[in-house]
Amino acid sequence: PRPILLTRHGESRDNVGGRIGGDTVLSDAGEIYAKKLANFVEKRLESEKAASIWTSTLQRTIITASPIIGFPKIQWRALDEINAGVCDGMTYEEIKKNMPEEYEARKKDKLRYRYPRGESYLDVIQRLEPVIIELERQRAPVVVISHQAVLRALYAYFADRPLKEIPYIEYRSRTLACHRRRVIAPETGTIESPK
Ligand code: G3H
Repeated sequence: PRPILLTRHGESRDNVGGRIGGDTVLSDAGEIYAKKLANFVEKRLESEKAASIWTSTLQRTIITASPIIGFPKIQWRALDEINAGVCDGMTYEEIKKNMPEEYEARKKDKLRYRYPRGESYLDVIQRLEPVIIELERQRAPVVVISHQAVLRALYAYFADRPLKEIPYIEYRSRTLACHRRRVIAPETGTIESPK
């Protein structure tokens, strides 16, 4: 069956500083991942002429895709990271310190909690519907390069995981998830399952 490969973007500069949201470029480690991913994808999809690469509209996914040559690339706003609203650019520590009620409310119900002027996981799940419909219609493999919250929701859909688990799926960076419950790490070639 045509694989759908899901991966987070390479580490961004904001990831290094523990800041959520933003639109920064990649760290050095992120650039290295982008190259490894390109090697992996080019080898794995060598004979798949109709394959495509889907990213969000944020720099960190577009830059992660950039070393991949030979496949069309499509940007989807629906693949952008959960919008953290007024908390965009903050660290979790800063949110805890400056907006303790928000921090607690999210901890209590991470699935439904909506950032002020931002989104909840349920909002993200809803906006992914057209992406899922389009993914299901594809006859060729797709590599989706996106963000943690979005990939948790996409992975849960393909792996049949319950809604309430979505915000907690451990979605490690530097791994590729394949629908059919497999995760392939381009760096090592090993196959694992997210917890
Ligand atoms: O900035 C967004 C994070 O990737 C989502 O993680 O929902 O566990 O806070 P979180």
